[in-house]
Amino acid sequence: MADAYQASGEFIDVLSKPAWKALRGPVRAALDGASAAHGPFVDVGAGTGLGTRELAGACPAASILAIEPSPVLRAVLLSRVAADPSLSERATVMADDALGADLPDQLGAVLAVNMIGHLTPEDRRSFWWRVADRLAPGAPLVVNLQPPAESVTIPYTTFGAAKVGRYTYEGGGDAEPAGSDAVIWRMRYRVLDTDGEVVRDDTIEYLWHVLSAADLLGELADAGLSGRLGALGVVRAVTAINGNDFHH
Ligand SMILES: C[S@@+](CC[C@H](N)C(=O)[O-])C[C@H]1O[C@@H](n2cnc3c(N)ncnc32)[C@H](O)[C@@H]1O
Repeated sequence: MADAYQASGEFIDVLSKPAWKALRGPVRAALDGASAAHGPFVDVGAGTGLGTRELAGACPAASILAIEPSPVLRAVLLSRVAADPSLSERATVMADDALGADLPDQLGAVLAVNMIGHLTPEDRRSFWWRVADRLAPGAPLVVNLQPPAESVTIPYTTFGAAKVGRYTYEGGGDAEPAGSDAVIWRMRYRVLDTDGEVVRDDTIEYLWHVLSAADLLGELADAGLSGRLGALGVVRAVTAINGNDFHH
């Protein structure tokens, strides 16, 4: 299978760090109460492991499965896990995806951050069922919504930049509708020298399935999960039978 992050993967970690600084609080709040006694924690579409670190930090005793289909991102993920003794003891990196990964029967937490738009609506619904079947009572699924919530045009915006050595790495993009429930993101990654010279300029396109908060909560409910929307589009869901115990 082709690596969807072959061209962009190199830039994702350095450009995602500021976003994760902001996401960290809402994600950690949504993971509140996750217990190792309930089973392993799973990071689905773990990318370079910035969320895996938070999942591990939420419960120092939990074993972690970090599932990542992209070989480029997985290389960074494995490196991050291997370099950190508190992660390498208990986090396992799996070359698989949301629907294909062999999951244990019972899970203590599931994290799916900045990734749900990669799944088609059909696969997304199957994913909710896979998770709902395995989540222990009270164990959280944490998933976030990213704009746009609808299939609309988004003008070019710079998402962030990071300076490493002489070079500034800059990421941005625009989006256009692709049918009623998806957009095509055209992402641009530039590397600029100190004098402003453009050293590299790569553009890639990918399909992103859009989802509103109401639709997400509805789909979760259909799968027997009770979700609640928190800050920055972070949703915590638990098996509905226990009610929603999100108290932040
Ligand atoms: C924008 S990255 C986010 C990575 C990480 N969760 C983070 O927040 O830093 C999106 C991730 O979803 C992964 N992905 C794409 N399709 C997937 C699928 N079907 N199942 C699991 N992960 C998938 C990509 O390989 C990539 O790592």
